[in-house]
Amino acid sequence: MKDASTDRARIALSREEMRKFGYAVVDLLAEHFANVQDGPVGAKGDPSKMIPLFDRDPPEIGRDPNELLAQLERDVFPNNLHVDHPRFFAFVPGPNNFVSTMADALAAGFNIFNGTWLGGSAAAAVELGVVRWLCRVCRLPKSAGGLFVSGGSMANLTGLVAARHSFLQDRLNGAMVYFSDQTHSSVERALQVIGFAREQMRKLSSDEHFRLSIQKLSEAIASDRAKGLRPFCIIANAGTTNTGAIDPLNALADLAAKEKMWLHVDGAFGAAAVLSERGKQMLSGLERADSISLDPHKWLFQSFECGCVLVRDVALLQSAFQIKPDYLRDVHRNAAEFNPADHGVQLTRSFRALKVWLSLQTFGVAAFRNAITRGFELAEIAERELRARKGWKILSPAQMATVCFRFGDSDGVQSELVDLMMRDGYALLTSTELRGVASLRLCTVNPRTTEQDIVETVKRLDQFARQL
Ligand SMILES: Cc1ncc(COP(=O)(O)O)c(C=O)c1O
Repeated sequence: MKDASTDRARIALSREEMRKFGYAVVDLLAEHFANVQDGPVGAKGDPSKMIPLFDRDPPEIGRDPNELLAQLERDVFPNNLHVDHPRFFAFVPGPNNFVSTMADALAAGFNIFNGTWLGGSAAAAVELGVVRWLCRVCRLPKSAGGLFVSGGSMANLTGLVAARHSFLQDRLNGAMVYFSDQTHSSVERALQVIGFAREQMRKLSSDEHFRLSIQKLSEAIASDRAKGLRPFCIIANAGTTNTGAIDPLNALADLAAKEKMWLHVDGAFGAAAVLSERGKQMLSGLERADSISLDPHKWLFQSFECGCVLVRDVALLQSAFQIKPDYLRDVHRNAAEFNPADHGVQLTRSFRALKVWLSLQTFGVAAFRNAITRGFELAEIAERELRARKGWKILSPAQMATVCFRFGDSDGVQSELVDLMMRDGYALLTSTELRGVASLRLCTVNPRTTEQDIVETVKRLDQFARQL
């Protein structure tokens, strides 16, 4: 019998309404994936216009979701940067794939709890399977394992917690961490969050190729030991955000072994390249890391949020994070069951592994391998086009799908070029600083980028630069 009060408390749509709304959402997404390259790379909204649109109380009586979709189409979707646009070369692009998006809908739709084996045994099994495959791709030993997390920031934090726990028993006094000045800020933030003071971080100036210098590192470690400090962790880059530089992983692994230190490799951006032949060569030594960050939402073409931390000895990850509260006693009865929540910060977790699994199964590993290789080639095409034009200087040649360059001598011009390209809407890039010098940068990890996209982007950059 129908109870009138349930109608008033109805947070649900009828089957027909669900279908209508759901199909409209899918249609919108299919159009986006099919046509994104034909429109602008997105737009940055004006805060004075954008914020008032949403800074309002929600209605007392609900509205038709299909009408709301129209509002989103008008106000929300166009007023962001399309990080999946084939001519989005800024920061690290997010060249998502449609299957990954649908997997997100499924994971959210079934609202699968991916925290424990008891709550989501199949989800835990899928996660275990994908993580073990990633460990094999990175050539880690059988003891390795890991976890899907929100992204590189959380992957770095999680790996560093494992390091802190297993090497310092969480006692931080005098413990010292070493990394280059090219290391992503998320590493410093993670260290801060887990209790390290600024003076416990040695940020060493990188060499002429933007890599961590073994000599400077050895000297810093020796000097700190002489002061009675406790060097315990080296953080290496497998593809820096700025230039794609890879720190000398084998030499760092040798040093870490000699000094009995933990080696964490931040491969949030670059480690996925190990799947390709070129990446495998360049990332030699990755397999010697104690922990690795690798973001599928970057160069493995997944939707946000999808990062991954891999740890050489997964038991260390578990001993760093596992707590057994009374109310989870049913969860911990069988030690053979994999409880993701015992390996990281989150208890309630979305089923991130599903999208990686579903897209790998749909497209096959070869497609991913080729898509990664394409990223390498596109940056090389950009470098070639830039070198062919007068006034352009390459500050860091194409490597790991990244090339850095500038026009002329003025730092201001590089920022103006970013703004002009943004206003133009054809392609988007951002700038950075390399040794205090402003540099433009193209990151070309989107496999849907064409050679023509790159050629035309460089042509427009060149035209704008000459107008300035
Ligand atoms: C090398 C590197 N590490 C860490 C991060 C942080 O990753 P996320 O933004 O996914 O947290 C990034 C992001 O671009 C990165 O490039």
